[in-house]
Amino acid sequence: MSTGAVGRAYPRLEGPAKVTGTARYAVEYPMDGVTYGWAVPSAVVRGRITRIDTTEALASPGVLAVVHHGNAPRMAPGPQPELRLLQEPTVHYRGQYVAVVVATTLEAAREGARLVRIDYDSGPHSTVLTEDHPGLYKPDQVNPSYPTDTAEGDFDAGYAAAPVRVDVTYRTPAYHNNPMEPHATTAQWHDGRLLVHDSTQGATPVRATLAELFELPPESIRVVAEHVGGGFGSKGYAKASVVLAALAARHVERPVKLALTRQQLFGPVGYRTPTIQRIRLAADTDGRLTAICHDAIGQTSTIREFAEQTAVYTRSMYAAPHRRTTHRLVRLDVPTPFWMRAPGECPGAYALESAMDELAIAVGIDPVELRVRNDTAVDPDQGRPFTSRNLVACLREGAERFGWAGRDPSLRSRRDGRWLIGTGVAGSSYPARARPSSATATARPDGSFLVQINATDIGTGARTAIWQVAADALGVPPERVEIRIGDSELPAAALAGGSMGTASWSWAVIRAAQALREKLPDGGPPTGEVTAEADTTEEVGGQPALPRYAYGAQFVEVRVDADTGEVRLNRMLGVFAAGRVVNPTTARSQLIGGMTMGLSMALHEEGLLDERYGDWVNHDLATYHITSCADVESIEAYWLDERDDKLNPAGVKGIGEIGIVGAAAAVANAVHHATGVRIRELPIRLDKLIGVSDLA
Ligand code: MOS
Repeated sequence: MSTGAVGRAYPRLEGPAKVTGTARYAVEYPMDGVTYGWAVPSAVVRGRITRIDTTEALASPGVLAVVHHGNAPRMAPGPQPELRLLQEPTVHYRGQYVAVVVATTLEAAREGARLVRIDYDSGPHSTVLTEDHPGLYKPDQVNPSYPTDTAEGDFDAGYAAAPVRVDVTYRTPAYHNNPMEPHATTAQWHDGRLLVHDSTQGATPVRATLAELFELPPESIRVVAEHVGGGFGSKGYAKASVVLAALAARHVERPVKLALTRQQLFGPVGYRTPTIQRIRLAADTDGRLTAICHDAIGQTSTIREFAEQTAVYTRSMYAAPHRRTTHRLVRLDVPTPFWMRAPGECPGAYALESAMDELAIAVGIDPVELRVRNDTAVDPDQGRPFTSRNLVACLREGAERFGWAGRDPSLRSRRDGRWLIGTGVAGSSYPARARPSSATATARPDGSFLVQINATDIGTGARTAIWQVAADALGVPPERVEIRIGDSELPAAALAGGSMGTASWSWAVIRAAQALREKLPDGGPPTGEVTAEADTTEEVGGQPALPRYAYGAQFVEVRVDADTGEVRLNRMLGVFAAGRVVNPTTARSQLIGGMTMGLSMALHEEGLLDERYGDWVNHDLATYHITSCADVESIEAYWLDERDDKLNPAGVKGIGEIGIVGAAAAVANAVHHATGVRIRELPIRLDKLIGVSDLA
């Protein structure tokens, strides 16, 4: 008995608290005797600390301690070696945190950090990815557990025999997540128990990691993440801030607040690996793909292998009889890359969807039509039908809304004064997964309900979406439902990542609500509180392995100044098929946010690493450029009314990441259409297009 809450545009439940400043983030909880930590990064790339002189720092007013490998509390080897901080003098990359200064004020901690003297022995390093790097190797698998390489048919023969071929290499730089709220933690030890307020995408996994590192039963640790100011993947698991704060708090036996600075976010918390991607496409003269090959190179660190699944997008997107994908990695003296919005799919789609544009031109077929022609109902990788695949419908509706019909395919064919105008399109897809979660639902005598689940709202509107789902599942107006999330004391649940939060949490909430309704046969309020619980581990684990994906089509119109190469977007329009949309307001924000981040990737973002120092040069928001409103005049996101009953009880596919996939390719394709210049190395900065009137 739905009450129609799902699908309605409710404003965010926590909106008033955020607007009035009463919503508390990780380092905003008042605490008696609180102290402040300031992380000290290493000044060398690879080497060993030979001496730490803390005399001056400790003499500085307000400084309580300098915690480093010589005096820090010991930790067990945990699942992520990069989190074993302050345990040994080894330095694996520049910027690795090697000490924490704790003081009575933030300013005193910062000053103390400046006064810590560290001597190092350092050796040669290698920090820049190249396609001929001697360290290139084949990892055993790529994230999360895909085969490293795939092959079907005979790519070489199929490619050689085809009448139309495209062989192109694309490059993407490192990208840095940069959520508005930095990685930040308040940690407090009391009677052997640890309480942390952490800015994380998942309090349940953070608790598990802390339990391993500090060798405590998980019940002795509480992780609260009530409000989180963004993550984009970088807060997907426990990160340095929570470990450093916990170590420091144990050392000084007082609560410690520790927030990384903006500069400290560049690298150590994770970033998107740079990529070098060679794509080879072959087709018949009618545009039907006969051979596809995607060879991707990325980097990882010397500490832990992180193998981004860059070419996985290509395995399932378009059909062809002859197919091959490969991944190679290099271990560099750099921080370990990590998740950033659509890790794998985002850079992979930039390459493939750009190459599809190049193929469309080579064959002489409209790029929308080329994609339609190579659509497939059966997943070319798994050989099974997709649970639903509405790529073509997205392309058709997008073309209609955008006004694609009648587009003149010739390059540099439109001009408005100084501006060269062009349009571009790209496809988009992202897996629709779910993970096990648990939840409880309680009926109260006053007719209200309480639903509890350790979900995390990282700014997406997740809290509101779950509340709507809960109301419908309970069959009551949402005003009668209270929702509690963001605390590891609540029933354990999946992290907010992989676009699977809403699918995973809704599943558990719906099952808990159903169990509760079975306990309340007459439907009226109980005389005392009645609680039901649900755990979806078996149900999610037992789900048949069908190919489940969300799809989208991205359309862009750019204008490029014929002399200066300045690129601006007149408009950006996306149409998506992502299952049921729970809340149109927050969904639209997610899709537009993803598209904006894709635009940012296309035009601006680039982590520039100086090999001499092994560090990123542009490690702040003054020099690491991101997009702004001035770059684009209109962004619109639409979605199809898609029903897919093979997903999860809520019928959602997830929308956090699909918006960024393909967006950069659509921009690059539009720039090519406008100027005749194909830029295969992002970002499309104006220095690559300056004097474009003479370039083509
Ligand atoms: Mo998202 S990069 O899977 O948190």
